[in-house]
Amino acid sequence: MPPRIKPALLRQLRYLHLPSSPSPVRCTSSFPSRSFSATTASASASASHSSPNSTSPNSTFTTVSPDEVSHFNALASSWWDPQGPSRILHLMNPLRHDFIRSCRSSVLDVPPPPSNNLKYLDIGCGGGIFAESAARLPTTASVTAIDPSPEVLSVAKAHAKRDPALRSKLTYLNTPIENLPVPSTPQDGYDIVSIFEVIEHVPYPADFLDRCAPFVKPGGWLVLSTIARTWLSWVTTNLVAEDLLRIVPKGTHDWRKYINEEEMKTYFLQKRAQWTEPRCMGVVYVPGLGWKEVPGSEKVGNYFFAVRKVPDTA
Ligand SMILES: C[S@@+](CC[C@H](N)C(=O)[O-])C[C@H]1O[C@@H](n2cnc3c(N)ncnc32)[C@H](O)[C@@H]1O
Repeated sequence: MPPRIKPALLRQLRYLHLPSSPSPVRCTSSFPSRSFSATTASASASASHSSPNSTSPNSTFTTVSPDEVSHFNALASSWWDPQGPSRILHLMNPLRHDFIRSCRSSVLDVPPPPSNNLKYLDIGCGGGIFAESAARLPTTASVTAIDPSPEVLSVAKAHAKRDPALRSKLTYLNTPIENLPVPSTPQDGYDIVSIFEVIEHVPYPADFLDRCAPFVKPGGWLVLSTIARTWLSWVTTNLVAEDLLRIVPKGTHDWRKYINEEEMKTYFLQKRAQWTEPRCMGVVYVPGLGWKEVPGSEKVGNYFFAVRKVPDTA
């Protein structure tokens, strides 16, 4: 057993019973995995009364763990230091754009650039590494970037102010996805909804993804990155990256919250009336060289995953 399982479980239980914290409600959809069913079972023990399927901004359901918020708030001031604790995220950014481009170019019914004025929603944007870079692309019409950690969001806003060109394109909101109003019609949704390195910090990932889904417009893409739950990923992300090399701040990762690529695929295949064309890309961090695509590595460690909202055929 990886030694982090026990503290992680304790942390989760503490969260679920904190009287002052928002009480999570019973989850209705779950991934078939061990980690997903564990959080689902825990959540149902402390269920509150609002409907988990409600997309109302006033719902008491929360996807946010206070422990995660305080962890990331503590990292806020160094977010934009390319050699600081978020270095790994900075290095990953070019591959995110490559992956999105490859997803979009894999389908034939997308208008070629520059006619595509893309709308992005970046969920769990952190200090804005991806959001800023997306807003600078000539093919981007707008980026809405949200994060529940207030200090991280302040850093994102302050950093964006340095570039006047971002003012008209980039909007930051300090909110979790469950409080963001759902687009009034599907066509008002976003072309790209990105969720990079976030889902492994979310207590109820299936419910979280259910909340994100209505924001993707028909024909648009939901794109995420996360980590497979394997012995190798425990060794690389917990033992080596956090404990030995300290390239990631200690306590960043909870191995139990990792999600295997097959589990991710199964979750979306169960909703195949809504989603199509799942794509995956395994990536490996090579010290000194950065992140590299390594086919097959999605089975054991970090990976990008994307799925397309079924286009309107009417
Ligand atoms: C590892 S950082 C990734 C930031 C950014 N996506 C990137 O890759 O550059 C994880 C971010 O997820 C945010 N987060 C944690 N729980 C979240 C939740 N339930 N919903 C949305 N964001 C969350 C944290 O505040 C933090 O900014």
